[in-house]
Amino acid sequence: MSYLGIDLGTSGLRALLCDAAGVPVGSAERHYEARHPHPGWSEQDPSDWIAALEGALGELRDHPAWAGLRGIGVAGHMHGAVLLGPDDAVLRPCILWNDTRAFAEAAQLDAIPAFRALSGNIVFPGFTAPKLEWVRAHEPEIFSQVAKVLLPATYLNLYLTGDHVADMSDSAGSAWLDTGARDWSETLLEAGHMARAQMPRLVEGCAAAGRLRPALAQAWGLGPQVTVAGGAGDNAAAACGTGALDEGQGFVSLGTSGVLLAARSGYHPLPGSALHTFCHAVPGRWYQMGVMLSCTDSLNWLARIAGMRPAELTAPLGEALQPPGRVRFLPYLSGERTPHNDAMIRGAFTGLGAETGRDDMTRAVLEGVAFGLRDSAEALRGAKAELGHLLAIGGGSRSRYWLRLIATVLNMPLHLPASGEFGAALGAARLGQLAASGAAPEEVITPPATAEVIEPVAELVDAYEAAYRRFGPAYRAIREIQ
Ligand code: XUL
Repeated sequence: MSYLGIDLGTSGLRALLCDAAGVPVGSAERHYEARHPHPGWSEQDPSDWIAALEGALGELRDHPAWAGLRGIGVAGHMHGAVLLGPDDAVLRPCILWNDTRAFAEAAQLDAIPAFRALSGNIVFPGFTAPKLEWVRAHEPEIFSQVAKVLLPATYLNLYLTGDHVADMSDSAGSAWLDTGARDWSETLLEAGHMARAQMPRLVEGCAAAGRLRPALAQAWGLGPQVTVAGGAGDNAAAACGTGALDEGQGFVSLGTSGVLLAARSGYHPLPGSALHTFCHAVPGRWYQMGVMLSCTDSLNWLARIAGMRPAELTAPLGEALQPPGRVRFLPYLSGERTPHNDAMIRGAFTGLGAETGRDDMTRAVLEGVAFGLRDSAEALRGAKAELGHLLAIGGGSRSRYWLRLIATVLNMPLHLPASGEFGAALGAARLGQLAASGAAPEEVITPPATAEVIEPVAELVDAYEAAYRRFGPAYRAIREIQ
């Protein structure tokens, strides 16, 4: 028996094949772009995801474990709006999570008290509900044809099963879900000019969404017994991959977005704060996280400007952490969610001098992101979330310098998982395994072994604390002049 996890990411799709024990045995990736036709816009064509999926699976099908495939789980970048007509045809490009065009619509919905009360969250411009309000205002001919609104992972569920089925963790990021009750809210749908009939059916992430379509099973050389799980939003899936199920378990993810996540065994919304409170991918559990929109994106941006690769930019810093630099970077290239909920703010460098060189600017970028993550840690503490065992995951965790810096700014040790898989793709495969086998989540969703603990650099904790204290005022000052 084997299981497949599909991680539909912002920059590419990763497919991970795991054996009967849930151990990864093969993987394949395909990449695609996001388009930014206007400042603040971010779109993808769902047909690019299907092409990436078919391409990646075309490669994995040669693996000996492929024929035993029994369960599939999909994790996807959250909040995107895939609009389908009555025949399931895609009506327009998907508007992504980091698209901030719907900031005015988000503020309008957020002013309706029921949204924070029922969804447990501020209505952020990146969430799905304000996007539909934007389409209603700006593309009424498209809005009038919308038969279904699917999140990106749900669109892949449709491709796999032929049915419109979403999981709770991803759906909680729409702003239409009653997050405590784990069901669509008629009140919120109506306030957002939507109806339950336009929503997919809901299942828990680890429950079966359906069977793989016979036509696909045949084309992919599989039998009729392949179960597709509800799946998850990418952060809930990463929580499953890192074994973050209970209080005190969480991770810091250094990806396109930066995320600090804590698993919660109950529902503890803090709706006035820019913290996110979403359903977990298993029943009876939730999680909370702070999200910064430009994490590795900030470093990638500087690398692009410098005409280098990000690793070339960070290599000259070495591994020994330096004290905070004079140059400051505000990492708001696409606006910010936690803690500011500010779609309009943009990034800034301050403290540049005639002596400033490329390494100073690189350090400033890494420090700015670390301070942004500290903002999320403060928000989580405000919700009384326990930040006990934090794993470091995501592409950015390859930089030792960055990890030491973040550990020092958070003043918390970071656990580096032993090499291998532990992210959203593994979490998705685990959900596929749970849906196909009916096993208990605690048996399958377990933390990886820690390869190394990155400790804060004790003699620099105070200096970074002082620098962090100036980060909030810097945001306000820059906000003032932009
Ligand atoms: C979470 C969020 C991002 C995306 C992309 O709220 O917007 O983390 O899921 O990864």
